[in-house]
Amino acid sequence: MAQTEAIWKPTVFARKLTGRIRYFFYQLSVARFRGFDLYLNSPDRLVLEDVIIPYFVSRSEYHKILFIGCDWYTKPYRKLFKNKEYWTIEIEEWKKRYGSQRHIVDSFLNLSRHIESGYFDVLIYNGVFGHGINTKEDTEESFHQCFNALRQGGILVFGWNNVPQYRPISVTTECDNLKKFEDYFFEPLSTAEYLVPNTEYKHTFHFYQKPVAN
Ligand SMILES: C[S@@+](CC[C@H](N)C(=O)[O-])C[C@H]1O[C@@H](n2cnc3c(N)ncnc32)[C@H](O)[C@@H]1O
Repeated sequence: MAQTEAIWKPTVFARKLTGRIRYFFYQLSVARFRGFDLYLNSPDRLVLEDVIIPYFVSRSEYHKILFIGCDWYTKPYRKLFKNKEYWTIEIEEWKKRYGSQRHIVDSFLNLSRHIESGYFDVLIYNGVFGHGINTKEDTEESFHQCFNALRQGGILVFGWNNVPQYRPISVTTECDNLKKFEDYFFEPLSTAEYLVPNTEYKHTFHFYQKPVAN
């Protein structure tokens, strides 16, 4: 082995190891355990995991569910949805480990390549607008895909951070494809639009329904 290679290889290994250890402690600092599973510890996650997901799990009319975008803290969601047909889609290939058994590796802007129209009862589009969907064009396409993928009467849960740095456009007023949906009164929170209290980024959940044609 050349001398430079002998020095270089352990250095790269040490850097990777240090990076992983730091990431591990970062996760622990923002996480909470439930049993052996790690969840993100923030007020909006509590609303998502303790109110929104249990509602859809408890209702038999909502069976086919798609969760858009995955990360380490969404890994336990496959257990929460164990009695449902639970799907996930994520653009980053390596994050499939955090998804469901029915996982699609692709941008959800290409969802119609994978799923027939009207397939899903519920879509959960949370934390992706402003975190990957960052232009007006992509935002329009994202809601077009949501509309196409939902059955009539199906529900779209749209969660986003209502602050300038994570709000590429004024989505609720500027997005034409979002206007195709109707507001859905979400009983457990007694509203169609819920601003989670005490979130730095003003995390907001909007509930929409695909209209039923007469
Ligand atoms: C902040 S995380 C939110 C994860 C998850 N949606 C949640 O709320 O727990 C954003 C994730 O969306 C993914 N993402 C960004 N643009 C995407 C796209 N066009 N299609 C699918 N996933 C996307 C990112 O790779 C990232 O993993």
